[in-house]
Amino acid sequence: MNEKSWVREIPAPFAPEAPALPAELEVGAVGHVAIIMDGNGRWANARGLDRTSGHEAGEYALMDTVAGAVAAGVRHLSVYAFSTENWKRTPTEVRFLMGYSRRVLRARRDELNEWNVRVRWSGREGRLWKSVLAELREAERLTAENTGTELIMCLNYGGRAELTDATRAVAARVARGELRPEHVTEKTLARELYLPDLPDVDLLIRTSGEQRTSNFLPWQAAYAELVFAPEDWPDYGRMQLWRDLLAFQSRDRRFGGAVNRPAERGSWVI
Ligand code: FPP
Repeated sequence: MNEKSWVREIPAPFAPEAPALPAELEVGAVGHVAIIMDGNGRWANARGLDRTSGHEAGEYALMDTVAGAVAAGVRHLSVYAFSTENWKRTPTEVRFLMGYSRRVLRARRDELNEWNVRVRWSGREGRLWKSVLAELREAERLTAENTGTELIMCLNYGGRAELTDATRAVAARVARGELRPEHVTEKTLARELYLPDLPDVDLLIRTSGEQRTSNFLPWQAAYAELVFAPEDWPDYGRMQLWRDLLAFQSRDRRFGGAVNRPAERGSWVI
């Protein structure tokens, strides 16, 4: 493999050279897609490369996937870029991932802006590098008025951390006498999440064949359909996203309800 063979032009969502959407894909049918971008390290190591090359290749996969989401009319696309647990990686990899996030955000924000994408950040400030947060805020500012797909960069995000922070905020309101404990409902807690307006996840995709949800959006994805894609993240892109959206289209979602259809098997499954 020649050096950095993954570096390539990513066609804009509706560019003449961009692949055409599958005819059977219903544009706008999926509101919120969440992706666990897994397998960068394994992809690189399998090619005799350093793990960091896998992350670099992941930038192209991310842009191609965003272009695919825009073309398919996905309203919200949440991507797990760095978890609250990723600080356990070696200091070298953590440093790389922070510098890399900062660089990708700076390099790609204008392109995302041209695609009418609105960038948002979800996560905990805590240990997140100030310079990364500054890039996230700049991308948010630049794209704030965009009306297309919302790209939620989950960086220093952890589902348990989010629920802990939300619980703390509710407890503080109770302590101040603004709220009685018996009046705490699901809505009270949902209002304290990092992005309270973010709708529930419809489809949660994890790449690299691993079958876990790894603390990603546990509240929002409580009723998400799951797809475990076989590709490592650098091999993922718009074609794979469209394939997974088509799989979603054929799912039967019941949200805990059930329909009695005696002629069919499994009609009482929750
Ligand atoms: C998981 O692969 C991937 C990551 C930890 C980072 C992925 C982030 C991006 C592709 C884009 C980030 C961009 C911005 C702007 C924040 P892994 O290291 O877990 O791979 P492995 O499971 O094979 O070890």
